[in-house]
Amino acid sequence: MKQFTSIAETVDYLNTERERGLMIGFVPTMGALHDGHLSLIKRSKMENDLTVCSIFVNPAQFNNREDLNKYPRTLVYDAKLLLECGCDVLFAPEASAMYPEGETPDIDVDFGMLDKVMEGKFRPGHFKGVAIIVKKLFDIVNPARAYFGKKDYQQLAIIRHMVKTLHLAPEIVACETVREADGLAMSSRNMRLTISERNLAPKIYEVLSKLKAKTGKSTVGELKEWAVKKIQEYPDLRVEYFEIGDKDTLLPLKNLNRKEQAMAFTAVFLGDVRLIDNIELFL
Ligand code: PAJ
Repeated sequence: MKQFTSIAETVDYLNTERERGLMIGFVPTMGALHDGHLSLIKRSKMENDLTVCSIFVNPAQFNNREDLNKYPRTLVYDAKLLLECGCDVLFAPEASAMYPEGETPDIDVDFGMLDKVMEGKFRPGHFKGVAIIVKKLFDIVNPARAYFGKKDYQQLAIIRHMVKTLHLAPEIVACETVREADGLAMSSRNMRLTISERNLAPKIYEVLSKLKAKTGKSTVGELKEWAVKKIQEYPDLRVEYFEIGDKDTLLPLKNLNRKEQAMAFTAVFLGDVRLIDNIELFL
């Protein structure tokens, strides 16, 4: 596996490989890799000639400095996992290279409501920061395909919208959420849970799954109320939002008339750890 920190070296290397006719698949990450990330790498390896993974903890998408400082950084271990997985290139730049001094990072894309609801409402500026870095990474790697997890479903919608609006080349591939045996969606934040919080965390997906089983019989309002109540039966779980929304626009649904569009999304606090998850309600 090739490992680069320099943008110029990465661009040079990948240009040569592209000119040789190789199809490049790209998996952007912030590191602290787990099987969820590795499933994206494996999918890219199946569908492309060369797979690039980036590891960059992106300051622009954090709402506060403390969160940014607390983000786990495990580059040596991550590189080992990527090597074992057959990843071809690891690009792990420094912040000073991605955000040169004097530059005011910005992106000229109107996300409409996509960055206002749910995560956007509670993490202002977050998705703009994601879009800025993903655009920069796309410019460097110039992949044929880029892989994103449905675990961060709103992020996926933001990236799709950016690619469409700016006419970017990469095909965006959405990958299923990888879960622990007890249903908890894998996340680098799970390692910050205490033992008792970790034991409670699978309740989130349990409630989402039960909700899916109930959908034929109740109204949207009843379903939401039931789910929030069910999660908050556990005093250590606090729901920040629970929405039933449209899988494309992400806007809240008033009814389930177009049920194939319906998804449930939630963010739940366990102590100071905030977990998100979602489920397609009729598929
Ligand atoms: P990060 O949280 O490291 O996630 C990198 C990719 O892995 C994202 O596409 C995310 O949706 C996917 N992923 C995370 N957990 C997953 C799981 N349990 N199953 C399947 N896929 C999973 O998302 C980011 O980094 C950043 O915002 C980034 C896009 C890299 C921009 O900085």
